[in-house]
Amino acid sequence: IEQKSDVTSCLQGICELLKKDVPYYDWVGFYFRNGEKEELKLGPYAGEPTDHTIIPFGKGICGQVALSNQNFVVPDVNAQDNYIACSITVKAEIVIPLFVNGENIGQIDIDSNTPNPFTKDDERFLEFVTVEVAKIL
Ligand code: SME
Repeated sequence: IEQKSDVTSCLQGICELLKKDVPYYDWVGFYFRNGEKEELKLGPYAGEPTDHTIIPFGKGICGQVALSNQNFVVPDVNAQDNYIACSITVKAEIVIPLFVNGENIGQIDIDSNTPNPFTKDDERFLEFVTVEVAKIL
């Protein structure tokens, strides 16, 4: 239990730090596979609360990454058919899968209110974050 609360507060701190330090990161959160179910469950996040605390695999940008195991960079969310809107102010999104022992067990999800803000540097940086997080899970 102590281990779990340590991990949760660590992930919470990462979300808050990323949101605070990167001006175009407006919502930062972790989703994790919900046990054996084919769905994601919201973990620690920083930003406005979202209604989408459970996302079925395949649904939205997050649900697609749960199946594809690939980074998903969305420069314009309004151009996406399979997208779950959390806030009308969001213009762009990036989702990076999180692997433990080669298994896709969750992801970091970032929304931006700035159009097309994410570069390869964001992908590299967030991949680094997911690799570091995987070590403490
Ligand atoms: N936009 C995401 C849903 C999660 S919210 O961004 C917090 C999606 O389409 O999967």
